[in-house]
Amino acid sequence: MRVLGIETSCDETGVAVYDSDRGLLAHALYSQVATHAVFGGVVPELASRDHVRKLLPLIREVMTASGSAPGDIDGIACTEGPGLVGALLVGTAVARSLAMAWDVPALGVHHMEGHLLAPMLEHPAPEFPFVALLVSGGHTLLVDVQGVGRYRILGETLDDAAGEAFDKTAKLLGLPYPGGPELARLAESGQPDRFRFPRPMTDRPGLDFSFSGLKTAVLTRVRELPDDPQTRADIARAFEEAVVDTLVIKCRRALEAAAMAGDPPRLVVAGGVGANRRLRERMAEMAATLDAELWYPRPEFCTDNGAMIACAGSVRLTDADKSHAITARARWSLSELKPPALIRG
Ligand code: KG4
Ligand code: ZN
Repeated sequence: MRVLGIETSCDETGVAVYDSDRGLLAHALYSQVATHAVFGGVVPELASRDHVRKLLPLIREVMTASGSAPGDIDGIACTEGPGLVGALLVGTAVARSLAMAWDVPALGVHHMEGHLLAPMLEHPAPEFPFVALLVSGGHTLLVDVQGVGRYRILGETLDDAAGEAFDKTAKLLGLPYPGGPELARLAESGQPDRFRFPRPMTDRPGLDFSFSGLKTAVLTRVRELPDDPQTRADIARAFEEAVVDTLVIKCRRALEAAAMAGDPPRLVVAGGVGANRRLRERMAEMAATLDAELWYPRPEFCTDNGAMIACAGSVRLTDADKSHAITARARWSLSELKPPALIRG
């Protein structure tokens, strides 16, 4: 089955063509970073308008690059939510219109299921079951994944998402938007032991997270210390270490619980923060001590992209989706998803 995938939930326009027999045929991404950078964050109305400008040219580009004519496409998948509702509406409207014109089914995909299944784009791909750590700008979730649509949320953030904490702390340190990768870069020149920030909620049982207090701890430090480049780098390093350490501690707990339940210790890390180099190093050390498998999408598919949406669509699309009934959902819990009617390879 050949699927055109469309992602427009936030500030990246992503398009891909995925074939369930041949894998990913082509993908393209347009990042709106330059548009939003002057405002220090995503401006929803500007995001929607930019998706309107960029989506059709990207679809043309990816159709050509994948050697696909409209008649070769068996279905269209677009992000239905969660995300910015105006941005989502652009993708869902284009997906439904093209599907009507081409007489193929169209399906709305859950953005976080896209992230969760993104490692399936790689060869080899992880087998089920696994524990997934989803760390993006809007979500921080630990999920027990028994199969497609068989998700049990083990833990989630009570306030800021991990990526959001990176972005807000980067802003405090005077770094440009988007802050996460900038902060990570600054942290590379920071000393590891000069400051130590708390590891929130690791001193009690459970798998929930809370990151909003960390930025307050950083703010206090920033205010009481002289503003020199080395101090800023040292604070960035200590902040990154605190977030990474917290994520690693909770993942270790989730893997130990999975092993107790008789599942193989297998961890998938996905979402934008999964591109963080320090996180990858520390997760690898932890996984090695548990003899656990550790899987990631390639870094470009950790952040938002169309390939993960096309891939998720390929396992969920059926002829019933010819109704083209897709809404745009600002909020949508992953735990509402059900297994697909028909599992496709
Ligand atoms: O998955 P994603 O592209 O979009 C959402 O669905 O939110 O994740 C974006 C988030 C942003 O908060 C960004 O700052 C963060 O991922 N991020 C990083 C890194 N690359 C992206 N955070 C830390 N280190 C990175 N290298
Ligand atoms: Zn995302």
